[in-house]
Amino acid sequence: MAFAITQTCCTDASCVAACPVNCIHPTPGEADFATAEILYIDPRVCIDCGACADACPVDAIFPLESLSGPLAAYGEVNAEYYADRPTAAQRPDPAPIFHAWDPPSFDRVIPPDFPALDVAVVGSGPAGMYAVQDLLLHTSSRVTLIDRLPVPGGLVNFGVAPDHPSTKRISETFDRYRSHHRLRMRLGVEVGRDVTAEQLAASYDAVIYAVGAPTSRDLGVPGEDLPGSVGAITAVGWYNGHPDVADAALGLGGDRVVVVGNGNVALDVARILTTDPDDLAGTAISPAALARLRTSSVREVVLLGRRGPDVAAYTRPEMLALTRRDDVEVVVDDHDGLAGAIIDAGADKGGLLATAKREVLDHATPPPPGRRIVLRFSSMLEEITGTDAVDGVRVTGADGTATIPAGLVVRAIGHRGRPVPGLPFDEASGTVPHEGGRVVGASNAYVVGWIKRGPSGGIGANRADARDTVGTLLDDVVSGRLAPRRRSRDRGRVRGALRRLLARP
Ligand SMILES: Cc1cc2nc3c(=O)[nH]c(=O)nc-3n(C[C@H](O)[C@H](O)[C@H](O)COP(=O)(O)OP(=O)(O)OC[C@H]3O[C@@H](n4cnc5c(N)ncnc54)[C@H](O)[C@@H]3O)c2cc1C
Ligand SMILES: NC(=O)c1ccc[n+]([C@@H]2O[C@H](COP(=O)([O-])OP(=O)(O)OC[C@H]3O[C@@H](n4cnc5c(N)ncnc54)[C@H](OP(=O)(O)O)[C@@H]3O)[C@@H](O)[C@H]2O)c1
Repeated sequence: MAFAITQTCCTDASCVAACPVNCIHPTPGEADFATAEILYIDPRVCIDCGACADACPVDAIFPLESLSGPLAAYGEVNAEYYADRPTAAQRPDPAPIFHAWDPPSFDRVIPPDFPALDVAVVGSGPAGMYAVQDLLLHTSSRVTLIDRLPVPGGLVNFGVAPDHPSTKRISETFDRYRSHHRLRMRLGVEVGRDVTAEQLAASYDAVIYAVGAPTSRDLGVPGEDLPGSVGAITAVGWYNGHPDVADAALGLGGDRVVVVGNGNVALDVARILTTDPDDLAGTAISPAALARLRTSSVREVVLLGRRGPDVAAYTRPEMLALTRRDDVEVVVDDHDGLAGAIIDAGADKGGLLATAKREVLDHATPPPPGRRIVLRFSSMLEEITGTDAVDGVRVTGADGTATIPAGLVVRAIGHRGRPVPGLPFDEASGTVPHEGGRVVGASNAYVVGWIKRGPSGGIGANRADARDTVGTLLDDVVSGRLAPRRRSRDRGRVRGALRRLLARP
């Protein structure tokens, strides 16, 4: 028996550090770590000790013999990764066993007289929490964690799909730090509304912004503002009960929904809208969304990809899980023959669509009974149609123009950062300009996560990112570039005012 890593892997590499025989790869030190969709256990080396499963924060690791249903394929998926790779022992110059992940950012020696800093971390999503974790574990800093929402967690709470409960369990790891004695939490406080960046800069030795990318990208096509056209932030906020999103934000009265985009978020939305509501009951889904799904008329979700299945943005584990489901049919709309040719050549991403049903669909006719997800590749959205509300989309492809009737259009084409008043902002990338995480032009502000890198990468990618930013902050203190200020009367006054502000009910 060996273990295997499955779909919900967050790639934060906790398992790598726990494995006593170095059988989990890529490690953070290996070249393909940055692009890895999941990590893989080498069945030839695994000693079945289960240390990785114990360390996994998202319950993604199981003994092979216990894998069933959509997870059954993961034994093979893990083994495949190693098909052309020698084991560590077979390599001509075997790499040393990599027992613990301690990336270069913490190779620096923290001097014994390193001061206890007062740091504010703005944003309690994964990036903010990995930064908090590093500050609390590696320094004696006191941390004030600020979030505009009344509930911490960022996209772990309000993005991750409710049918991925094990991914949401990463919160349990973060909760440990939220109750740390050197951390104070200030929820319901928005920087830029309730407190300014200048006030924070004056009151704390350093401020780390981890504010994410909270807006949906726009398409810039006619009809985008019609009722019934929503961004992914609204759709995922709706099923996750985000306080900013109304219970009635999604109209599910039509039989077809079009989701624009081919990434994992598009797959999440398509899956939730086509899952039997009984299977969602008992998950973290918003009760209002669940009630609405019970009366939904939606039978078909069309996923529109502007490019082909060879370069789709979804990750293999997510598509694998979708194609293995028996309650939802996955159909490739081979409208122009291009997708079919790519799939026949085994060149679709992950080679998973060979078993999917393939048809040339006539969208003028209503979808058949049952629930299905249609993958329509090489289709450029030209217009969202309708007079008072959305009634469909017009798309072009190699075979000309087509109209697809739909009652709801979800734009899942990625996210975008929002400027924080008082911080610089690069309009082109939607991020805050920085050097190694230090905000350009600011004396004591730092960034981490999606507002720093842009809106891509799973939860675990924020761990290495946070280590880089916190590492820069610590270097700045050691080099004297960032001088922790001595408590002055002025600073005391600002902090007192700020404390009163942040303590507001
Ligand atoms: C829909 C969706 C589903 C996803 N599912 C998965 C998944 O299943 N697995 C996976 O590995 N990755 C998933 N990801 C990716 C993962 O969620 C991101 O990598 C991660 O959340 C980015 O972390 P962050 O801390 O930068 O941003 P966020 O998680 O967005 O956190 C930002 C926080 O800052 C707060 N904030 C924003 N502005 C202010 C302000 N002005 N003042 C105070 N607070 C503020 C917000 O309220 C929020 O809590 C998903 C992403 C999306 C969009
Ligand atoms: N289960 C999980 O692990 C999970 C779940 C959700 C999200 N995430 C992660 O979160 C990150 C964000 O995911 P995401 O799905 O929002 O973004 P994404 O992976 O960047 O995908 C965006 C999609 O939108 C398309 N697109 C962009 N602009 C477009 C336009 N103008 N017209 C039509 N299509 C357009 C892209 O097409 P092109 O490819 O042609 O550019 C792509 O298909 C990703 O790293 C993702 O893996 C992970």
